[in-house]
Amino acid sequence: MAQLLRVQNFTVSRDGFGAGEHQSLERPFGHVDPGGMFTWAGATASWPNRTDPGGSRGLDDYFTRDFTHNIGAEIMGRNKFSPQRGPWQDHEWQGWWGDEPPFHTPVFVMTHHPRPSFTLSDTTFHFVDDEPAKVLDRAREAAQGKDVRLGGGATVIREFLDADLVDTLHVAVYPSLEVGSGSRLWESPDELLDRFHLDVVPSPSGVTHHVFWRK
Ligand SMILES: NC(=O)c1ccc[n+]([C@@H]2O[C@H](COP(=O)([O-])OP(=O)(O)OC[C@H]3O[C@@H](n4cnc5c(N)ncnc54)[C@H](OP(=O)(O)O)[C@@H]3O)[C@@H](O)[C@H]2O)c1
Repeated sequence: MAQLLRVQNFTVSRDGFGAGEHQSLERPFGHVDPGGMFTWAGATASWPNRTDPGGSRGLDDYFTRDFTHNIGAEIMGRNKFSPQRGPWQDHEWQGWWGDEPPFHTPVFVMTHHPRPSFTLSDTTFHFVDDEPAKVLDRAREAAQGKDVRLGGGATVIREFLDADLVDTLHVAVYPSLEVGSGSRLWESPDELLDRFHLDVVPSPSGVTHHVFWRK
């Protein structure tokens, strides 16, 4: 079986932004409120950060459940990992996710400023300064036959799309939010239609799931 490179649950505003501007420690998504954007996922039974029982088990839950299904490694951009830019001031920052990151696999953080790997619970973070194809080779090897998730942000997703390395994308569009500036995935999903099939599936929660797979 081929090892796919999959984008899962990436959520964008109506105008195609995955995050706003001016990211900081207090505002991981910049001027965008992630609570609003991810309401669709947070309401599902399979949401990994759920603290109370319950949650919906409809269409949105299928996507949150699929987030971990057959995933053996993740690739993410440095700005998903950290609000710091440029050389690391120290190595104390270990991501936003606390002692139990939700990845449970090796994670490859793309950065021009590599630093030593470290492990938190069952997630090991590696820092790699390389071109997308080489990073994907490393992630595939680490995934031991399973698929690799491309975790975003939009900058690294665009890079892997430009290199034609992405096999499937699931993008949830949150239509009641317009962001205007920041980290943008697309102006329109139509940009990908020369290379991908697309199913567009509206959910009762208000988001519209876009599921792309290679032609
Ligand atoms: N909406 C969603 O579903 C979703 C999902 C994930 C993340 N996010 C949000 O998206 C934002 C981050 O997205 P972003 O587009 O700003 O940035 P990003 O894609 O997370 O990271 C971009 C950075 O990665 C490093 N990088 C990228 N390609 C590289 C290469 N080939 N070689 C070496 N380093 C490379 C560079 O960092 P350096 O040059 O600094 O090393 C670059 O500035 C955050 O706010 C995050 O919370 C949203």
